Amino acid sequence: MSRFFHLFFMPIVKNPKDLLMDAYNGGYALGAFNVNNMEITQAIMMAHSAQKAPVVLQLSSGARKYANTKMLVDIIHSIAEQYPEVPIIIHQDHGADFETCKSAIEAGFNSVMIDASHESFAENVRITKEVVTYAHAHGVIVEAELGKLGGIEEHVSVSEKEARLTDPDEAIQFVQQTGCDTLACAIGTSHGAYKFSSDGKVDVARVIKLTEVLPGLPLVMHGSSSVPQEYVTMCNQYGGDLKGARGVEESTISEAVKYGISKVNIDTDLRIVMTAIIRKVFFENPKEFDPRKYLGPARDEIQKMVEHKITVLGSAGKIRK
Ligand code: G3H
Ligand code: 13P
Ligand code: ZN
Repeated sequence: MSRFFHLFFMPIVKNPKDLLMDAYNGGYALGAFNVNNMEITQAIMMAHSAQKAPVVLQLSSGARKYANTKMLVDIIHSIAEQYPEVPIIIHQDHGADFETCKSAIEAGFNSVMIDASHESFAENVRITKEVVTYAHAHGVIVEAELGKLGGIEEHVSVSEKEARLTDPDEAIQFVQQTGCDTLACAIGTSHGAYKFSSDGKVDVARVIKLTEVLPGLPLVMHGSSSVPQEYVTMCNQYGGDLKGARGVEESTISEAVKYGISKVNIDTDLRIVMTAIIRKVFFENPKEFDPRKYLGPARDEIQKMVEHKITVLGSAGKIRK
């Protein structure tokens, strides 16, 4: 499929910024779900079609390497044809450098994240600006990151905490200097299934402050899986070991969304649901070896979980008429 076709194929939206601004202005968030294969993509799309919600389908560099970029983009286009009413943003998750973002744009993504958050402020600005210039010239939007993701526990000192989390004054400078469209902020969440020890928390007050100093700028929350305990229990019950796995409370996510988070990144929850169901099928049917018999139920359960997330984020029924 050519890029020309992508531009005129409606579900992959031509103005991705509009979807984010609709979310920002409407007080809800777009779910940004990581896709790695056909079943996960189908489940996410079926859920968004059922709930009439716009969606961000995001591909990490790991996903692109695992499944092949063109393969995943073609899967998305093919599934999108079945659900033409669902507006889609195809997004590069955590692009490590300019080349990663450029290749994503060439592959038909309409949104990229440049994550140079581990660099110095000046270098982060320089790299992000380079990506913004290229992306905007191609009608593609850019998410950038400032601050460092990581669980903030009670034992972390105030100065250490301040050094990691997104600083509002720096954020103003960063957005002005880079022209990024959205900002991923560090507010105490981390990637994966083990986000906090018992005393961990998310700094929602920082979201309020960031929204105050950056009016009109959609903020992005990474590490937003809630690690649903029913699926953790299921994994553990059927031979897994995910003891101590813990995510962000869904009530905290809804609160953060209320105060200006417009894109919420979720990957771990998809993985846990898929693993839990596959473990259960194998445990209960040791003779089973037809992949459709375990990938199918996993797909159904992911759809159910994603439909629930859509209600947490408030994006149900938000497809523009
Ligand atoms: O940002 C992290 C996402 O969960 C992607 O993870 O790099 O293993 O695909 P991955
Ligand atoms: P989780 O690991 O909490 O699902 O976060 C995913 C993410 O932030 C992808 O960018
Ligand atoms: Zn992330």
